Amino acid sequence: MNIHYLGHSAFEIVTNGKKILIDPFLVCVPNYKPENICDIFVTHGHGDHLGSSINISVKTGAHVTAIFELANYCAKKGAKTIDMGLGSWRNYSWGRAILVPAFHSSSTPEGQYGGCPCGVVLEIEGKIIYHAGDTCLNSEMKVIGELYQPDIAMLPVGGKYTMDIEHAVKAAEWLQTTTVIPMHYNTFDAIKVDIEEFKHQIREIGKVPVVLGAEECIEG
Ligand code: NI
Ligand code: MN
Repeated sequence: MNIHYLGHSAFEIVTNGKKILIDPFLVCVPNYKPENICDIFVTHGHGDHLGSSINISVKTGAHVTAIFELANYCAKKGAKTIDMGLGSWRNYSWGRAILVPAFHSSSTPEGQYGGCPCGVVLEIEGKIIYHAGDTCLNSEMKVIGELYQPDIAMLPVGGKYTMDIEHAVKAAEWLQTTTVIPMHYNTFDAIKVDIEEFKHQIREIGKVPVVLGAEECIEG
């Protein structure tokens, strides 16, 4: 499996020739072409997460998985969708996924209620990947840690609208994860951080920080 960072909170995961997108807000990767996408996960309705999901679904036939209200919104705009609630695994051709709580807000681009904001846990090739969406530090992360011990956690670190570095380091501890990929930072001024500080603090607790530039990739 390969995990490509597409900037901000956007990722492309490639597993056995199948491509999955998470929060495809693609302003950081103007040359990226979303092709042969099978599934798109959208954590909440804010523009910097919903991104190009609807267009990509319309063009490629990819299914958008999101919480009920947000999936319905995407379906009305012509996307193929899979609606879910919090709390149970769903099987896919490449593995399985579950939506988990995030503490944030969510509205559609037109300002309608977007359902509750989410994170997502994916099981792919026997590995557990957790994408936190936009959230503050919260005790649900202890539950995710106890149940799944993610191999890789994608955590927002930019502060202001989400966790900051200090809280993301605590989250990494609670999640019992080994590898942490920071996201949702330095895309714009309000969420500027010194990412060296993040690396330093994550190493201090014995975990591996993987800081990716847009379009950089790691093997999962
Ligand atoms: Ni948001
Ligand atoms: Mn955001």
